[in-house]
Amino acid sequence: MTATSIWPIEMGGDQAKRRVAILISGRGSNMTALIEAAHAADFPAEIVLVVSNIADAAGLAKAAAAGIATATVASKPFGRDREAFERKLHETLVEHGIDLVCLAGFMRLLTPWFVSQWDGRMLNIHPALLPSYKGLHTHERALADGVKIHGATVHFVVPEMDSGPIIMQGAVAVLDDDTPDTLARRVLSVEHRIYPDALRLVASNATRIESGVCKSKANGSPDDMLIAPAVI
Ligand code: GRF
Repeated sequence: MTATSIWPIEMGGDQAKRRVAILISGRGSNMTALIEAAHAADFPAEIVLVVSNIADAAGLAKAAAAGIATATVASKPFGRDREAFERKLHETLVEHGIDLVCLAGFMRLLTPWFVSQWDGRMLNIHPALLPSYKGLHTHERALADGVKIHGATVHFVVPEMDSGPIIMQGAVAVLDDDTPDTLARRVLSVEHRIYPDALRLVASNATRIESGVCKSKANGSPDDMLIAPAVI
């Protein structure tokens, strides 16, 4: 990620809509949210490809049913050679003329080589308010810590896991009787809202990076506030 860039981030190509690939490993509910959002005529990106590293990922069938091209680039045969797997993946993305990559439950650690190929053009969604709770089991850890506000983050991908400039976050109140499952459900609803919105911003060149921080042309109100627990 370049430390500083100016409006707009250049993506290359002059097509009206950015060509987006979504990378998944599982059920693909965020993928579905992105596909549905991209149906809007004014959405600045089209989902042209869904790639999975797992051949029977449930999301692949959902993507195919939605009329999106799918591909499997199995990671297993490459064993520990992560870069060899990623070269194949990268080739697939290039073949499809991809401008932007959205990671959506893609359960692979990416090498600096792959990340550098998509610098400033690869987004990820993480089920926590970064930089808190990087990694797995975010809801369990948030509950164990007793935080009162939890949420989800869309960020640009950098070589360090779950780091990189934050594009958008959404929050929910944590309730005393929440379980990891009930909390995960509410956070997932937030994910399904913020991922399409964050992609809209990036694909319409409404984001820029200043000293590693993402700023955007989105509307924010200084009065926006979430207090939890609310005292009635
Ligand atoms: C989501 O919680 C996302 O934040 C995380 O992996 C999960 C994927 O869920 N990175 P889905 O496959 O999009 O339903």
